[in-house]
Amino acid sequence: MRKLIIAIDGPAASGKSTAARLFAKRLRYAYIDTGAMYRACALAAKEAGIDMSDESALDALMDSISISIKHDSDENKIYLNGKDVSAAIRKPEISGLASGVSAHATVRNKMVDLQREMGAQGGVVLDGRDIGTVVFPDADLKFFFVAPARVRAQRRFDELIMRGEDPSFEDVLNDMIARDEADSSRTLAPLVPAEDSIHIDTGALNIEEMIDLLYAHYLKKVQAK
Ligand code: CDP
Repeated sequence: MRKLIIAIDGPAASGKSTAARLFAKRLRYAYIDTGAMYRACALAAKEAGIDMSDESALDALMDSISISIKHDSDENKIYLNGKDVSAAIRKPEISGLASGVSAHATVRNKMVDLQREMGAQGGVVLDGRDIGTVVFPDADLKFFFVAPARVRAQRRFDELIMRGEDPSFEDVLNDMIARDEADSSRTLAPLVPAEDSIHIDTGALNIEEMIDLLYAHYLKKVQAK
């Protein structure tokens, strides 16, 4: 059976990463976390002391860094210049910086090329903001996740607490709303649902129900072929 390209897009903390990882595991597909790639770019810019609005410095940076993803048992590990930065990119500060760098063409072009290379053979689940609209507009199956802002903020808050951070819920909520707004209103590859995407409200579903629902759509797709 031909292996599909599956896109999952949606706003911050809408459950994309968890669903994409587990769904890929169920299908024995690869999982590509494109948000982690933009986070790694932001970390690289921060370490180099580059301002997120300095296009020419970002351009030079993009020529000099390497970003790769390795699938390590259940986890995706992300490497920046050969160094494992999987934990460092999850810091709250990096979320905002990632949204800043990801608005630049120089950054997006390099990341989109890499993502297309990684997904070209099929057998992949990619999650992000522009997978179904820009990276793989011909993806076989496109999902767009939604959930109320407070539900998403609670998820991110719990995640940060688990990682040993000490955030305030209001800060998490406000940062998330600001980032969604920036991601949705930017000129390049804004966060918008692809016309042919299947909308899934993840607020009311537990993870098992979510994977079963995605799988039901997958079966419908492969049986129709
Ligand atoms: O985990 P969370 O949903 O909070 O964010 P993420 O998926 O790790 O993405 C971090 C940031 O990278 C987003 O706020 C976007 O600005 C950017 N991003 C993007 O522009 N395009 C993608 N395909 C994925 C992420």
